[in-house]
Amino acid sequence: MLPEAHHRRASFSLNDVFQMETTILNATISPPDTTVISAAANVLRQGGLVAFPTETVYGLGADSMNAAAVERVFICKGRPPDNPVIVHIGDRSQLDSVSEYTSLVAHALAERFWPGPLTLVVNHRKQFPRAVTAGLPTVAVRIPNHPVALALIRELGHGIVGPSANLSGKPSPTTAQHVLHDLGGRIEIILDAGPTLIGVESTVIDVTTSPPTILRLGGLARETIEGVVGTLATSHDLDTLKRSPGTRHRHYAPDANVELIEAGDSARLEKLIVQYRGLGKRVACILHSLNIEEVNETLLVVSTDVNDYARYLFQTMRIFDEQKVDLIIVESVPEVGVGEAVMDRLRRAAEKK
Ligand code: TXA
Ligand code: MG
Repeated sequence: MLPEAHHRRASFSLNDVFQMETTILNATISPPDTTVISAAANVLRQGGLVAFPTETVYGLGADSMNAAAVERVFICKGRPPDNPVIVHIGDRSQLDSVSEYTSLVAHALAERFWPGPLTLVVNHRKQFPRAVTAGLPTVAVRIPNHPVALALIRELGHGIVGPSANLSGKPSPTTAQHVLHDLGGRIEIILDAGPTLIGVESTVIDVTTSPPTILRLGGLARETIEGVVGTLATSHDLDTLKRSPGTRHRHYAPDANVELIEAGDSARLEKLIVQYRGLGKRVACILHSLNIEEVNETLLVVSTDVNDYARYLFQTMRIFDEQKVDLIIVESVPEVGVGEAVMDRLRRAAEKK
């Protein structure tokens, strides 16, 4: 017997959604605090929304079987209804209960990389509310590698939808404070377990195609996945856009303009700084090999490790926005490992508004 809420239509107004009190709960990691987890699971059971930490970014959690709760997720984020959400499960055995004809490739990937920053798109068994899948025959599933997320899913007993807990189009949240900034007053609880480790979202692989298709670059490197299942298909064509609607929406955009420059291109760096400063604008930089001698008002973040770049990228964009920076100049990183996902996010952020 499905919970009654499964059949109910959303019956709240925007004002109800946007005037609630958001509670931040300190979520210990080892071991997760059972009182905190059971309080959060109860909120989910009642159709409430709970932001939770994962190893990639914070997710905005709702009971995946509760249509009204999932619809609230879309309203809170301002997410287009044609962009389906990921269902987070707690155990590999749950893959067969959500998906039909799960392929050997899907099982091989799940066995090797779950829990971890990998999302698999599989054919579903038609059990989810329409909002979860946006009407597609497929559903995106992953097991997050975070004790708090896993404890919450296990306490609820089934899948939790979890889009990134940011306003649609903004950089994904890597701290509880980012979630509060974007969604405070719109959701019941934020479970705060500190900054996330990876900093960019999971890699999304469609395993209904042969070979599997990479739909979104992310925290698990393409090379690592290809080491298990061979060369992945990459598709930028219309067909992929239909299969992964999220890829066509504008993403990861700070308020500032973003200019991506080649690694080591000091001439372009100087030119941009002079040009923008000449207009009285505030300029900030994220660099790893380049250096600026005369720093002045220019804010500077230097990192040589691409994993650090990934971990702090969204956080840095948010800090620069708070400082009312007009232009962020970012030095390109090599597209190996998580560097490929970093460059994907940077290119999207640099798309002209
Ligand atoms: O790391 C992550 O994946 C984070 C954490 C919280 O788990 N979640 C996340 O969710 O980034 P979201 O909703 O921001 O991104 C989900 C991506 C979108 O690009 C969406 O279009 C795609 O997965 N997606 C979801 N369901 C799909 C489906 N059935 N077919 C193809 N793509 C799908
Ligand atoms: Mg997102």
